[in-house]
Formats: sequence, C-alpha cells, structure tokens
Amino acid sequence: MSELDNSPRPAATPADTAPGRPFLSVRDLRIHFETDDGLVRSVDGVSFDLERGRTLGVVGESGSGKSVTSLGIMGLHRSSRARISGEIHLDGEELIGADPDRVRRLRGSRMAMIFQDPLSAMHPYFTVGAQIVEAYRVHHDTDRKTARTRAVELLDRVGIPQPDRRVDDYPHQFSGGMRQRAMIAMALVNNPELLIADEPTTALDVTVQAQILDLIRDLQQEFGSAVIIITHDLGVVAELADDILVMYAGRCVERGPAEQVFHAPQHPYTWGLLGSMPRIDREQTDRLIPVRGTPPSLINVPSGCAFHPRCPYADLPEGGITRTERPELRLVPAGSRAEGEDGGPHWSACHLSPEDRGRIWTEEIAPKL
Ligand SMILES: Nc1ncnc2c1ncn2[C@@H]1O[C@H](COP(=O)(O)OP(=O)(O)OP(=O)(O)O)[C@@H](O)[C@H]1O
Ligand code: SF4
Ligand SMILES: [Mg+2]
Repeated sequence: MSELDNSPRPAATPADTAPGRPFLSVRDLRIHFETDDGLVRSVDGVSFDLERGRTLGVVGESGSGKSVTSLGIMGLHRSSRARISGEIHLDGEELIGADPDRVRRLRGSRMAMIFQDPLSAMHPYFTVGAQIVEAYRVHHDTDRKTARTRAVELLDRVGIPQPDRRVDDYPHQFSGGMRQRAMIAMALVNNPELLIADEPTTALDVTVQAQILDLIRDLQQEFGSAVIIITHDLGVVAELADDILVMYAGRCVERGPAEQVFHAPQHPYTWGLLGSMPRIDREQTDRLIPVRGTPPSLINVPSGCAFHPRCPYADLPEGGITRTERPELRLVPAGSRAEGEDGGPHWSACHLSPEDRGRIWTEEIAPKL
C-alpha cells in the first residue's frame, strides 16, 4: 500500500513521549448535562491511559457514555450545557482547562475523530473535496492543488469510486456509507497522533469495513498513532484492540489487556456483553446470555453497583453490599488472570470475590460462549 502521506510529520519513535508519561491520560473525567428533567451523569469518573502505537477498544451498550467521553477528549462539549471536570492530558498538555483556540488547533492536527454520525461532521454547503482540502490546509502550508491531490488520494484509500470526480460532489450527493468514508478521509488527512473512531464501520459493508480497519492500522504503524475505537462489534475489538475498556452507566466497570478481558473477564456485565454482542469471528447470532433488562437512566443511576438491578449475581456478595456500596475498580489478582498472557494490569469493579468470579466464569459462562 502507498504511504498515507508523502509530506509532513516524521514517524513517531517511543522517545517522542517522555518516559513514564502516557501519550493520552484521562483522569476522573466527568461530563454531566443540565436538562429540564435533571442532571444527566453521562460520564461519571472515567480514567485510563493510552500509549502511542496502541489501540484501546471501548465497548458498552447504547447510552453508556462512549460518545460523550470521546467528544469530551476532543473538546467538543464546550458550547453545550455540559459540566466537565477531571483531567485530560495529551502528550503532557492538559486540555480541559486549556484555551479553546488551543484545543481547536490540536483538533485536526494532533487529534482527530471519526464521528458516529457522518452528517454532523460534514457541512452541507461545501463540496466534500473542499472540506478535506480545508482540513489539510489549516495545518499545512501548501497550495490548493497539492491539497486537492491529497484529498483525492484519501478518498481513493477509503474506497470512494472515481475519487477525482466525486471530490467535487456535495455531501448530499453521497450515500450514507460514502459520507461516512469521506468523513473518515477527513479525519485521517493530517495523520493524527490520536485518532478516536466512534463506530467507524457500522454503516459499511464487510469489504469496506476491512479497508477502513486496514487504513487505521496503517496510520498506526506508520506514525505510531494512539487509537481509541468505539464499537458494538467485538470482532473489531478482537482484531484491533490491545486494551479494552468496558463502560456501564457512564463508568468504567472493567479495563485491561484485550487477551485478559476476552479470556478471563472479571465482571458480570462483560460476561453479558461477550454472550450477546455480534462477533464477526464466529457464526453465532443467538443471544446466548443476554444482558437482561435495559440500561439505567443516567439521571437516577441505581444505588451501589449501577448494574445490580440487572445482575444475576447481585445477591451473592454478603450483606446486600451490592445495593448500597459502589464497587471501585480493583486490580485483578495474579491468580485470576488468564495463563500465559500478560500485557498490563487488569481492573474490575465488582463486589464478587475473585474466587466466585473465577468459578462462575469457568463453570457457568465460558462453556456457553
Ligand atoms: N447534550 C446532551 N444533553 C443531555 N444528555 C446527553 C447529551 N449528550 C448525550 N447525552 C446523554 O448521555 C448518555 C450517553 O450518551 P452517549 O452518546 O455517550 O452514549 P453511547 O455510549 O455513545 O451510545 P451509542 O452506543 O448509542 O452511541 C445518553 O443517555 C445520552 O442521552
Ligand atoms: S457488584 Fe454485585 S451487582 Fe455489581 S456486577 Fe458485581 S455481583 Fe453484580
Ligand atoms: Mg455513541
């Protein structure tokens, strides 16, 4: 495959990030919205680190706060009725308290997002090409012709047929799937060091899905970019992610190396997701272990463990603790980890003892998957 870009930034080396400092660090991120019905706690204390060259997969049911978290990292909640707290460090630079102009400059140059809704990212009054050219020229001192060549190249890479002609179309002349691909081209045009891809392949057919995932992988290999991929498709996560973060009701309930989360998951909600989510790596459409019930209101989040009204094991931990005390994320002990796998710490927020979790997983859940 041709290189993603023939001009700008040199490939990153591990030395580009100060030793011991992750490229992206999110600490106790809270994003609440004031509404007429009450305060919506969309994101309520999420923390994680992401190194260059690594991919974090974020999974969770609809409404768990995945998109709000991503938009928060991109600094895109500033104009709404959002209350944001916590810290977001990009290569050591704090973003929540930063000047909005500074964050705008970083967006598009050092960090970019593939939005879940392609229409929200493209302006209806400008041609697709003009928007990609503009995104490129904002961050590169180059003439329009060079930028247009770059736009056509990117449209080609994301699978738009006849890109040299379609570059002059307006967004409404594109189908939904093509608009999504054009938006992906726009997000990748500057080879971002941090790429957040929010359900990047849902509207696309399988062949194009594979092309897009290849493109993201190429970007990462060439430039050592850090990638966050949000998806309902555990097959995509299994293929791309080094680490997985499981969100429930605006919080992280499990986080760890992908191998650990797949082979020795430590949270009843993750068990439910593994049993009910579609996976492209297996022929299985039945919901084996459906997550019963529906996600909670983020205005009245259940007390204690937010998952307790839906959890089949809520009565197991002693003294009804599950309904009164919120379980904090705790390190999974070495004895509970999948054998022969490593890759970093594994965290879970559940009151079940490690022994109970291990027994339920091995005896009840794993055999059914
Ligand atoms: N501007 C806003 N004002 C009020 N509530 C909001 C706002 N934006 C998002 N929410 C609420 O925050 C919660 C989390 O939304 P979010 O879009 O992050 O979910 P998600 O995990 O991305 O779901 P999906 O998988 O459907 O994309 C939802 O309950 C949503 O209604
Ligand atoms: S803390 Fe209790 S309710 Fe929550 S996931 Fe664990 S067992 Fe289920
Ligand atoms: Mg979303």
